[in-house]
Amino acid sequence: MIVRHPQRLPLLALGMLALLTGLWAGLARLGWNVPLPRAGFSSLHGPLMVSGFLGTLISLERAVALARPWAYAVPLLTGLGGVGLIVGAPLLAAQLSILAGSLGLVAIFAAIVRRHPALYTYTMGGGAILWASGNLLWCLGWPVFLVVFWWAAFLVVTIAGERLELARLQQVSGAAQAAFLLLLGILLTGLLLLGWSYDGGVRVFGVGLVGLALWLGRHDIARRTVKQTGLTRFIAICLLTGYVWLGISGFCAMLFGGMPVGPQYDATLHAFFLGFVFAMIFAHAPIIFPAVLGARMTYRPLFYAHVVLLQVTLFLRLIGDAAGWSAGRQVGGLLNAVTLLLFLVSTVSALQSPPTQAGRVEIRAS
Ligand code: HEM
Repeated sequence: MIVRHPQRLPLLALGMLALLTGLWAGLARLGWNVPLPRAGFSSLHGPLMVSGFLGTLISLERAVALARPWAYAVPLLTGLGGVGLIVGAPLLAAQLSILAGSLGLVAIFAAIVRRHPALYTYTMGGGAILWASGNLLWCLGWPVFLVVFWWAAFLVVTIAGERLELARLQQVSGAAQAAFLLLLGILLTGLLLLGWSYDGGVRVFGVGLVGLALWLGRHDIARRTVKQTGLTRFIAICLLTGYVWLGISGFCAMLFGGMPVGPQYDATLHAFFLGFVFAMIFAHAPIIFPAVLGARMTYRPLFYAHVVLLQVTLFLRLIGDAAGWSAGRQVGGLLNAVTLLLFLVSTVSALQSPPTQAGRVEIRAS
């Protein structure tokens, strides 16, 4: 594979290490008898997936966009925080590294907002502030089952900001922008309630998620681009499925409220992290990976395989959660992990592909 920016590979590798180790820990948490380096390792699953993997990936993407050398310290800090968690460094040291990284992401967005002051940049910057706030609470000893909603807010707000950017906000009416801000306000209210009433906070947060799912489904250009062909249609389908899972996650949060552990917690979180967040990753991977690495990527209809598998296996897992059918939940979770591996293999092999051939769409970015 020829990449124009090989110096970014180690940062990407740190994120991937957190993803793979986090998946392993997730399987252990699900009850699969996988060997672990030490007792309690499975409790690192959430932090590794959200901060070690997604935080590093998002920070790297934003550092590339800002194109300032200092910005690369941000994914380095979060990536090293992930390594610290894996090797069993003092927990606070790893947490502080991740906190410092998330503050660095706030600094990146401050620079981006100065260049392009617009609703979408402020929104993404707000997402980074939510992540840093969650990480601060985590450092202060808040349990992950509370902090996870701050992390989820970081992701949904960042993604909504990115979609706003692409949706060409000028086409979104003033009333729709006001509705968007109101929904962000509801999310924030849910978060602020958490420390006082866990159950009430999660339910209000769920209302915000359902509202955002409806808002994004209504205003995203994906509704129009889904009628096109090739990569454009692929991206639109991923986005629209992601909004459905976002709505399901919000609905679960409204219905179940605060659950620190168990099938209902599992359903609420993974409809969000797998169904929504990974749909967004699937959609943007053919653009982001070539942009970050400066490589060439070939879109293949085979990409639909991991999208379809994610829907089927997540559905199985959630049915298992809802019906108290632990085998379905366990097998579904294992197949979720297999789906993500398939996605990685598919993406890397598309990066290695030769230049355009008949019937294929070539994506180039620098
Ligand atoms: C793909 C396979 C996955 C498996 C097998 C898995 C498994 C699990 C399990 C069993 C739990 C605990 C639920 C309970 O209390 O019953 C959990 C929690 C969690 N998962 Fe996953 N998960 C997966 C994917 C993901 C992904 C992709 C993300 C994020 C991007 C994620 C983020 C989280 C978070 C943040 C928690 C809460 C952790 C905590 O409370 O300590 N998971 N996961």
